[in-house]
Formats: sequence, structure tokens, C-alpha cells
Amino acid sequence: MAASGKLAAAGVAEAVEEEDPRVLEPGAAPFGNFPRYSCFHPPEQRLRLLPPELLRQLFPPAGPDTRPILGLDVGCNSGDLSVALYKHFLSLRDGKTCPEAPGELRLLCCDIDPVLVARAKKECPFPDALTFITLDFMNHRTRKVLLTSFLSQFGRSVFDIGFCMSVTMWIHLNHGDQGLWEFLAHLSSLCCYLLVEPQPWKCYRAAARRLRKLGLHDFDHFRSLTIRGDMANQIVQILTQDHGMELVCCFGNTSWDRSLLLFRAKHTVESNPIPESLIEEAERNRLKL
Ligand SMILES: C[S@@+](CC[C@H](N)C(=O)[O-])C[C@H]1O[C@@H](n2cnc3c(N)ncnc32)[C@H](O)[C@@H]1O
Repeated sequence: MAASGKLAAAGVAEAVEEEDPRVLEPGAAPFGNFPRYSCFHPPEQRLRLLPPELLRQLFPPAGPDTRPILGLDVGCNSGDLSVALYKHFLSLRDGKTCPEAPGELRLLCCDIDPVLVARAKKECPFPDALTFITLDFMNHRTRKVLLTSFLSQFGRSVFDIGFCMSVTMWIHLNHGDQGLWEFLAHLSSLCCYLLVEPQPWKCYRAAARRLRKLGLHDFDHFRSLTIRGDMANQIVQILTQDHGMELVCCFGNTSWDRSLLLFRAKHTVESNPIPESLIEEAERNRLKL
């Protein structure tokens, strides 16, 4: 049985961010840098909520000389979700692209943990399309150098879309309210569209409880966080009220009760109307927010 199967069978499928310390070495993942995170929270749970034609709808081809769509995956872990997103949006079947897929997609995937990044590089089946780098996204100087260097290869200054999947809690616990606010500010300034999967508050409590059970210190900021409660809503408020983004769509909840929220920078609005199908999706999911 695969590792994910064993854990599911043992009833600890949600262990890594929810409850159970048995699956981890003590204190081994202070940033959520769990080895093989995708075994616990498989990419398919998220992908089935995302229309495969999403990128084609957001970035319709403008002519024969279509430029690549540039994506940024923050907190990519060992790259399983990055690769799955790439395949999903290119509708890759049997290694072939389906005709209605968008043109070229290039992803810059970063993670704070060099061991996870080394594994991602080693195992990536699309090394020309996905670039993996070690980066602490909260380090202003390194972030600027590495991201600018990638974007300048394409003569661009921002990414078309950013992916921030199950990362916000770890930034929040390690950097506090101000850190979360700044993290979202950087992301929104770097990306025209942003897909965020926030962890709900119950995961914060579980992560803190797990540290206590292991006899370790609390996260530095846990007790002083004032941004708390409905985290999806909190993140919507910060991005829309403080960082010039608007909520385009909520793609519903995963089986872990996490919403997938799509935002876009308001300055892209005039040039690029929201596709009809996403407006309908937003209507359907209005009550879930
Ligand atoms: C829970 S995992 C999510 C992995 C993947 N995005 C997914 O949803 O399957 C969180 C990831 O964020 C990374 N991370 C946490 N803080 C980070 C930071 N400051 N800069 C870059 N990556 C960070 C961790 O190393 C970890 O791999």
C-alpha cells in the first residue's frame, strides 16, 4: 500500500496540519515543510475543483504570437502539486497537450526548504517548463533578486497568476499578523491573478496543540494573533480592502474544508473582463464564503 493509503487506513489522513504528531519527527516541520505533503493532502482534492480551462479563460490567446503564461507557486514543497497544476491546466493526457489547452505555461516554484526543492528538481517530469528554487519568500532581498531574474527572461515584471496553496497559516504562525499582511501585499503586487487556499483556524489550533504534545515551544506568534476566526474571510478582507485585489470566484471547499479563492488585481480589470463561467461559479459558491 502506498504511504497515503496506509495513513488514510490508519485514520490519520489529516494528521499533518490537523492533529497527529506520530507522522512527524518532533519539530521537523516548523514551516509546514512536511516531506511528501501531497501524500496527506493530495493534489487531486484541489484540482477537481478547478476547471482545467481556467487559464485559457483568464488569458485567451491574443494572436499567433502568444506569450507564455507565467505562474508563481509559493511554498511548492516537493513539487507534486506544481506538476499536477501544470498537467491539469495543459490538460496533458498521455504526455500530449489537448487542443483547447492554453499556449505555453511556465511555472516558477519556490520553497523555503532546500531538501524539498532538491527533490522537486530531481523528480520533475517537465524541467523546461517548471523551475524550482529555494527561497524564503519573506526575505525581501532574495525574493526580489530571484523573482526579477526569472521574470526578466520573459521581459515581464509580474506573474500572470500566483498559487498560494496551504501556505498562509505557516507564514502567519512564523511571522505574525504583520507578516501575513506583508506576505499578501507582496503576492498581490507580483501577480495579476492569485489563487489562495487558506488553512482554516482549526488548523492553527491543531498545529499549536501538536507542538505542545511534543513538549516544544509554542509558535512565537500564536497567542498574539489578532487576525483569526474565519481565515478565508480574513484573507479576502486583507486582499480586497488593503491590497487592491478583487475576489473573482470561490471554487468551493475541499474535503478538508478549505476554500480555493481566486483574486485578481483591480488594475487588470479594464483590459480583461471576468469570463461568464467564472461569474456563474462565483454565484453558485456565494454562500460558502
Ligand atoms: C503545507 S505545505 C503546502 C505545499 C503545497 N503548496 C500544497 O498545497 O500541496 C507548505 C509549504 O510552504 C513552505 N513555506 C513555508 N514558509 C515559507 C516561506 N517563508 N517561503 C517559502 N516557502 C515557505 C513550506 O516549506 C511547505 O513546503
